[in-house]
Amino acid sequence: MSQASAPGYRITEHARLDARNTFGVQARAPMLVEVSDSAVLPELFGYAMLRDPRLLVLGGGSNLLLAADPAGAVLALETRAITRLGDDGDAVIVRADAGVVWHDFVLWTLGHGLAGLENLALIPGTVGAAPIQNIGAYGVEVRESVHAVEAFDRATGRFARLAANDCAFGYRDSLFKRQSDRYLVTAVEFRLSRLFTPRLDYAGIAEELRAMGVVGTPRAAQIAEAVIRIRRRKLPDPAVLGNAGSFFKNPIVPAAQADALLAAHPGMPVFRGAGDDSRKLSAAWLIDQCGWKGHRDGDAGVSAAHALVLVNHGQASGLQLLELARRIAASVQEHFGVAIEPEPRIIGARW
Ligand code: EPU
Repeated sequence: MSQASAPGYRITEHARLDARNTFGVQARAPMLVEVSDSAVLPELFGYAMLRDPRLLVLGGGSNLLLAADPAGAVLALETRAITRLGDDGDAVIVRADAGVVWHDFVLWTLGHGLAGLENLALIPGTVGAAPIQNIGAYGVEVRESVHAVEAFDRATGRFARLAANDCAFGYRDSLFKRQSDRYLVTAVEFRLSRLFTPRLDYAGIAEELRAMGVVGTPRAAQIAEAVIRIRRRKLPDPAVLGNAGSFFKNPIVPAAQADALLAAHPGMPVFRGAGDDSRKLSAAWLIDQCGWKGHRDGDAGVSAAHALVLVNHGQASGLQLLELARRIAASVQEHFGVAIEPEPRIIGARW
């Protein structure tokens, strides 16, 4: 392993990625470029190794399955500034660099009396990754608080700023996910609020607040605390047991198909889809019904706490985890006629 550094970045050859993917899968990058100042990006992208379409841009590595060593260079943004851009009394615009740890940012906003991100507490990953898959949890998606996204546009070699409306946000989707070879998210501007509207519609939050002894309207920090407690209970901590959160997206199916499945399986959870004629099913429930919860093939397994979470019990390879995921999807297809798709980015293999 050899290293070289210049102001704003550091390059390591044959870098280990084990600690850079929350599955804890062993892998190496031919070259790892750690960037501490995004102003160097135009210069770095002058080099062929970074213009190679196989370049992998890493955030916290919490939504990633390394099924093989990345073939190209790996770039990680380690920029960490948080700046207040504007304040009109009620709404405050805050800009956070891509490398800021997401949960640290949520705590920063709460510490400054700003609401909007409390339901998204404890999601692993970085600020820069948040808009890419439009992270969401407990009834809230990050797009609701995104004001604009700043990105380095690899097609033009310049920085671009996209207003939230131009980001094509969808369920676990965005322009940045669809054009991942083009935009490199460098910072996100959030519109946060001093006026707090609690979002308690998701099952479990109100119950948790009651269990915490909160009466009346909760404070934003109390909602975050409720979310943290639920997440700690339901989702394994990647620092203890390798995982990438939900491995599958909840499938969206035509309403008629959801009705037919519901008639056959009256306990099946069904949620609103994007429109009147579509419904979102629970991938966790479908997988659980097929008997996978707690299943283990060597070190590749399914969490015993949540059927949607694949786990690495120690030495599982990315390929072993991927093979298990394929068997799970095939059994859901066979039992329910529903295709489920992975949420994490898969490197080195096709789904
Ligand atoms: N369920 C089961 N078995 C399980 C777990 C859940 O049958 O082992 C059923 C339950 O009936 C429950 C339903 O599945 O009503 C939904 O479960 P949960 O509330 O845990 O939510 P989810 O749909 O499985 C989604 C997100 C999570 C997010 C939670 C909470 C996706 C793919 N996942 O999970 O996001 O934290 O809602 O809002 O949309 C992630 O994306 O990595 C992630 C963890």
